[in-house]
Amino acid sequence: MSSGIRVAILGATGAVGQELIQLLEQRSFPASELKLLASPRSAGKEIPFRGETLTVEAVSEQAFADVDLVLASAGGSTSQAWAQTIVDAGAVLVDNSSAFRMAENVPLIVPEINPQAAAHHQGIIANPNCTTILMGMAVYPLHQVQPIQRLLVATYQSASGAGAQAMEEVKAQAQAILNGETPPTEAFPYPLAFNVFPHNSSLTEQGYCQEEMKMVKETRKIFGTPDLRISATCVRVPVLRAHCETVNLEFAEPFPVGQAREVLAQAPGLILQEDWENNYFPMPNETTGKDEVFVGRIRQDISHPCGLELWLSGDQIRKGAALNAVQIAELLVKDDLLKVQQSATVSV
Ligand code: A2P
Repeated sequence: MSSGIRVAILGATGAVGQELIQLLEQRSFPASELKLLASPRSAGKEIPFRGETLTVEAVSEQAFADVDLVLASAGGSTSQAWAQTIVDAGAVLVDNSSAFRMAENVPLIVPEINPQAAAHHQGIIANPNCTTILMGMAVYPLHQVQPIQRLLVATYQSASGAGAQAMEEVKAQAQAILNGETPPTEAFPYPLAFNVFPHNSSLTEQGYCQEEMKMVKETRKIFGTPDLRISATCVRVPVLRAHCETVNLEFAEPFPVGQAREVLAQAPGLILQEDWENNYFPMPNETTGKDEVFVGRIRQDISHPCGLELWLSGDQIRKGAALNAVQIAELLVKDDLLKVQQSATVSV
């Protein structure tokens, strides 16, 4: 075996998979080999990587035999189907799906927030939900100064969270509507072009959708605050690949706006972008393709003396998914954590 890490991407042809390939190259990840895996539909497809042409393989049992690290973004059921094989083969799985995020023996990591959680992995590490990552990046630095008492968030989510096909569908919908035709709706239940609708993940008994409950549960797990009071409303907007969120934070004591700005201006992976004179704040068309989460419009909540309001925007495919996963992989390399100490039995 040549020195370096043998990497496989499961879901290599998807929106996140494509970005993972680019990020491994751009960030000079020490991969000695890269295996591209997808469904049999994509077998034989060619994708460039570091000046070579790699051929996509259909995922199979043998595909994981000589692999150290698997970056997966092929949906929850595909991760469920292959996780045990991956772990049994001695590889570490960094999984972008929601399949294992809340499992007790699976660390859920945003490297800027809880890198220490990686130390005790048992072969699987979960990458959080995109909206959770972006929000965590903006609010955790404030939480470290003063613990958050209550958090209310509303999201404005782009099409990319539903995959490459959904992004194409929004473009096709816009074209169809402009042509006076019926817009196609396969990836989404309703037309998203020229429209907005509450997130279409399934509804829970309490009336929250799964996406909203992911924000609640995952944030608590990442922050290590199981009782944190959070309520979320998640909404799809006709934007291709960057999400926005409004966040209202309540603290025990007033949190001066100036101090919040200072804290956020210095936080890793964040850019404070506020031009109050020109009413110019983070926007998806400018945050698309960027690594950082952009935050701005930080203001005192006029309805509560200990409340703060803020606005953020970040690329869903990059920091919301692929970049965070590659940063987790970099953390595993840096801390020599690519060996599985105690293999998990995958039963979540
Ligand atoms: P394929 O392109 O062959 O369907 P996105 O989230 O952008 O929709 O991408 C999903 C990714 O997951 C794609 O690479 C897709 O491959 C892959 N995928 C979907 N279902 C499976 C499966 N059953 N086995 C392996 N890969 C899958």
